[in-house]
Amino acid sequence: MTNMGIDQASLHTRPLIDGFSRRVDYIRVSVTDRCDFRCQYCMSEHVNFLPKADLLSLEELERLCGVFVARGVRKIRLTGGEPLVRRGVMNLVRGLARHIETGALREMTLTTNGSQLDRFAAELAACGVKRINVSLDTLDAEKFRAITRWGALPRVLAGIDAAQAAGLRIKINCVALRGINEDEFIPLVDWAHGRGMDLTFIEAMPLGEDAAGNIEHFVSLGEVAVRLSEKYALKPSAHSSGGPARYFDLAETGGRVGFITPLSHNFCETCNRVRVTCTGELFTCLGQEDRADLRAPLRASAQDDLLNAAIDRALAAKKHGHEFAAQAFGGKAPHQRPMSLTGG
Ligand code: 5AD
Ligand code: SF4
Repeated sequence: MTNMGIDQASLHTRPLIDGFSRRVDYIRVSVTDRCDFRCQYCMSEHVNFLPKADLLSLEELERLCGVFVARGVRKIRLTGGEPLVRRGVMNLVRGLARHIETGALREMTLTTNGSQLDRFAAELAACGVKRINVSLDTLDAEKFRAITRWGALPRVLAGIDAAQAAGLRIKINCVALRGINEDEFIPLVDWAHGRGMDLTFIEAMPLGEDAAGNIEHFVSLGEVAVRLSEKYALKPSAHSSGGPARYFDLAETGGRVGFITPLSHNFCETCNRVRVTCTGELFTCLGQEDRADLRAPLRASAQDDLLNAAIDRALAAKKHGHEFAAQAFGGKAPHQRPMSLTGG
């Protein structure tokens, strides 16, 4: 006990519970804002990335993750940008693998565009990664190029092959885009399920520089579900990935389709996660501007007291929910922060 009566040990292990009694046991860690793609709905072609000097080192990211694990975080998702383009990222993965080995961490996973998977899949599997999310919005090479600007479909498909060969389970993330991939919803499901992969559709969120473009291409996933039900019987699934998706089982394929509907369906009630960026900012809600700097307390002391106190303050202020729908439809200004900063 300190003279202020605060038990330092429990400060370091106290579960993360916000002001609405929601337990946070999942962190998404954006390890870089950089990406080798330039998806239309995510970033502009001439995006300015963060100066390297602002980034946390991989060692600092590992320490930060360790502090969260000590406070009961059971699942870590590495995101970006594209997490696998950060130089040395496997050192972080290997470092986090220790928490898997001790059982403190139940799951380490990542969201990737797949472009580097052929190089890293085997080592990811060796580090205890069991499943990954791969973003893929189309199976048409030309359309793929148009959406991602810099991406090449064959490379991503090779990455998916490598990941499956390494034994990783894959979930495909597909942003539904009016006039762009709406003719492929069924073919994408057929393809993914044919390869034993689940597929989750995502509604385009009004984030980033071209928020207006995302609103223009917005398709409600209610509409996607109606289209899928022309071919399949969608049966609500009990499955939960611990994320915001709602799942349906398709008897015809034996596979699962998920829907992430930030605009048309609010999933904040059961929110169990926060986001940490590569500069050490803690975002307690994807749809809010609230952020807390963890880099200063991280660097100010080799002990974790300041860091834990900053996390507590931020968590106590976690808002109840996002306001994407108001932003998209109600004229409320969308915020500029792109997905590549907070990693989705
Ligand atoms: N709206 C919806 N999804 C987005 N993604 C990136 N930007 C947006 C956006 N504005 C998706 C990526 C990836 C996941 C992390 O988020 O395609 O699958
Ligand atoms: Fe890169 Fe993902 Fe953004 Fe596309 S959506 S530019 S793959 S970070």
